[in-house]
Amino acid sequence: MLSLVYVSAATHPYSPQELDALLEKSRHNNTRDGISGMLIYRDGDFLQVLEGPEEAVRTAFARIAKDARHQRIMMLDESRIEQRAFGEWSMGFRRLNAADCPEGFVDFFNRNTDLAALVRQDGEAGQYLDSFRKLA
Ligand SMILES: Cc1cc2nc3c(=O)[nH]c(=O)nc-3n(C[C@H](O)[C@H](O)[C@H](O)COP(=O)(O)O)c2cc1C
Repeated sequence: MLSLVYVSAATHPYSPQELDALLEKSRHNNTRDGISGMLIYRDGDFLQVLEGPEEAVRTAFARIAKDARHQRIMMLDESRIEQRAFGEWSMGFRRLNAADCPEGFVDFFNRNTDLAALVRQDGEAGQYLDSFRKLA
C-alpha cells in the first residue's frame, strides 16, 4: 500500500459548512476506493494523509491536486506501508486552533516558506502525524 502526506493552502477561509461538504464527499469517495487517512485544517492550511492501494491513492491525489479550492500543494512524504495508520477513518478530520495544537505544530506550519527543507528533514512529518493520532 501507499501513504502520501501533503500540505496545501486553502484559496479562501473555509466555513464549517464548506468543510462538512468537503468531508462528506471525501468520505464517500474514499470508502468506495478503499482509502483511509486524515485531514487537518488550521487557519487556512490543510495537511492530509491518504493511504490505501497504490493506484487508488494516486488516482485520488491526482484529482485532489487539481482542485481549485487549494494551492501550493507540497508533498511531505511518500511511503510504502504494510499497515494502515488510519484504517478506521475514511477521512478523519480535525479543525485546529493554535491553542489545540500539539507542541511544535505551529512552527511546523509557520515554516511554510521553506517546506522543501521540511521534506528533507526525515521523519519530522511522521512525528507530527503521530501527535495528531493521539489527539483524535
Ligand atoms: C484539501 C482537500 C482534500 C480533499 N480530500 C479528498 C479525499 O480525501 N478524497 C476525495 O475523493 N476527494 C477529496 N477532495 C475533493 C477532490 O478534490 C474532488 O473535488 C473530489 O474527489 C471529486 O469527486 P467526484 O468526482 O466524485 O465529484 C479534497 C479536496 C480538498 C480541497
